[in-house]
Order: sequence, then structure tokens, then C-alpha cells
Amino acid sequence: MPENLTGAPLPILDRWVAEAEAAGLPLPSTMTLATADAAGAPHARTVLVTQIDHQGLRFHSSTPTTKTEDIAANPRVSAVFHWPALGRQVILTGTARELPTEVSDAAYPTRPRQLQLVAWAYEDLAPQGPGTDGEVDQTRIRERFDAAAAREPLTRPTGWTTLELSPWRIDFWRAGTEDTPPTKTRFTHSETAGTAASPSEKWRVVDTLP
Ligand SMILES: Cc1cc2nc3c(=O)[nH]c(=O)nc-3n(C[C@H](O)[C@H](O)[C@H](O)COP(=O)(O)O)c2cc1C
Repeated sequence: MPENLTGAPLPILDRWVAEAEAAGLPLPSTMTLATADAAGAPHARTVLVTQIDHQGLRFHSSTPTTKTEDIAANPRVSAVFHWPALGRQVILTGTARELPTEVSDAAYPTRPRQLQLVAWAYEDLAPQGPGTDGEVDQTRIRERFDAAAAREPLTRPTGWTTLELSPWRIDFWRAGTEDTPPTKTRFTHSETAGTAASPSEKWRVVDTLP
């Protein structure tokens, strides 16, 4: 029988990420993030989650990007983690928002240097906007990346931001075997964060069709 999942779901997700890391899986904290624009057109991409706590999941992005523009117009998002080697998947549904600039000021120096430089390339090129169909000259990206490497000190570009996904539904899926079906445990809450006595009390948990 799979482990009985109870209590608050975000610590369980945090533990599953840690277990994927301990198992040596590549990029254990990346998720596919789906957003939709004001007209409902969906867009998905991979992002790296850098923190999971009772409020939600933090990730970073330059602005403007499709994801930040979508979230500004429509905060409803969905995301998926999948660790095939562990037979585990987590599906999140919730809302996303940008966090205050102080959070990003503190986070930027902790990011790998290559990502810090990429953020500057975005900063320099994004305001001009990509051409129709998103075309940007690759040599210009490289040039802005190299120019950022010469910056001293390498401070946060103002467009580099931190976002938080606050889920109201989290599904934990576990693969079955030849003899057992998969399982899916669903956590939902309808209260606004902070009104429950403790993080675990606001969540309702049920087994659902996998
Ligand atoms: C493994 C991996 C991790 C990534 N992590 C991030 C990330 O944390 N933040 C981000 O903005 N883009 C990240 N990207 C790039 C995005 O997938 C995407 O190409 C970019 O953010 C532009 O997406 P958008 O125009 O839909 O907003 C990552 C890509 C990969 C393959």
C-alpha cells in the first residue's frame, strides 16, 4: 500500500522534491507551469522552483515574459511536477502573483551566475519586444549576456522578479504496479490563506480517480 498522505500538502510536496533530489534525479524541482492570457489562450513552460513553504511555491522570471503578462492579466495557473523514476506526479491548481521587490533583491544573489547573466540579457532586450512571432537575433542575446559578465557589481536587473504560486488544489499521484492501480490523493481548500488555525486544518483530503 502507498503511504497514507495526511496533514498539510505543501510540506509533502517539499519532501517529494527532496526525495527526488536524494534519488539523484535531474532537475528535481522543475515543474511545468501553465498560464492563460486574458482571452483564455494557454501557454506552458518549465520553471525552477526555489522555495516551497506554507504560502506556496516560489519561482523567478524576467519581466515582461509571456508568463508574467499572462499572470498579470489572469492569475489562475496550473503546474505539474513529474518524477518518472519514482512513479510520482504532483498537479497543482491555484493562483500566482508577483512578490514584493525586496524578495527578489534577496533571491537574485543566490541564483547561479549563468542565470544572473541571462536575466540581464532579458532586461536589455525585452523592452524592445520580440519581433512578430517572437523573433530575436541570437547574436544580440549573446552580446547582452557577455556585456552582463563585465558588470561589477552584478546587481539584480529591475525586471527580474519572484512569483508565488498559491495552490487551492494539490493532487499527489502515485504509479501502480502490474497488480495494483495508481492512486491519486487530492487536497483542496476554499478558505483564504491564514484564516485556518493551522496550515493543515484548512485542507480537505480525499482519494480520487487517478
Ligand atoms: C530546466 C529549465 C528550467 C527553467 N527555469 C526557468 C525559470 O525558473 N524561470 C523562467 O523564467 N524560465 C525558466 N526556464 C525557461 C522557460 O521554460 C521559458 O522558456 C522562458 O521562461 C520563457 O517563457 P514564457 O515566454 O512562456 O514566459 C527554464 C527552462 C528549463 C528547460
